[in-house]
Amino acid sequence: MQRITFSVNGRRIELQADPDTPLVYALRNDLDLKGTRFGCGTGACGACTVLVDGNAVQSCDTPLWSVEGREVTTIEAAALGGALAAIRQAFIDEQAAQCGYCSDGIMMSLAALLSRNGEPTEQEIMAALDRHLCRCAAHMRILRAARRAAASLRGAA
Ligand code: FES
Ligand code: FES
Repeated sequence: MQRITFSVNGRRIELQADPDTPLVYALRNDLDLKGTRFGCGTGACGACTVLVDGNAVQSCDTPLWSVEGREVTTIEAAALGGALAAIRQAFIDEQAAQCGYCSDGIMMSLAALLSRNGEPTEQEIMAALDRHLCRCAAHMRILRAARRAAASLRGAA
């Protein structure tokens, strides 16, 4: 066991944990942040995606030791407003989910993309979401939501 200190959605966190514990377990089990989904557990589906220092990472594939001193952002940060809230609203407006299991991770990858590229092309959106699986085939609605979110953040919608 080791003390790991990092922050989640602006809150300082200190955990006593095995440093090799996947971040997704700490978020869901220790911090009760259930918006980060556990899907494949092997880095193949994207359901567990969060931001670490603004970069989209798969939290099932991210050991706790690697987030020491870093800022983790989860979908729960949408409640604080800002870009994530606008992205979530775009998903609601476009009804861009069926079961919704993939949605939180997808919104986190979109947040990372839109933070560095406010006017992404269709190809850039698809490249940013390439590591996400949606079993419900909501892909077209997800793409519309991504375009709507980008426009909203530019003040164009
Ligand atoms: S649960 Fe992490 S990529 Fe599938
Ligand atoms: S909406 Fe069900 S997996 Fe994407």
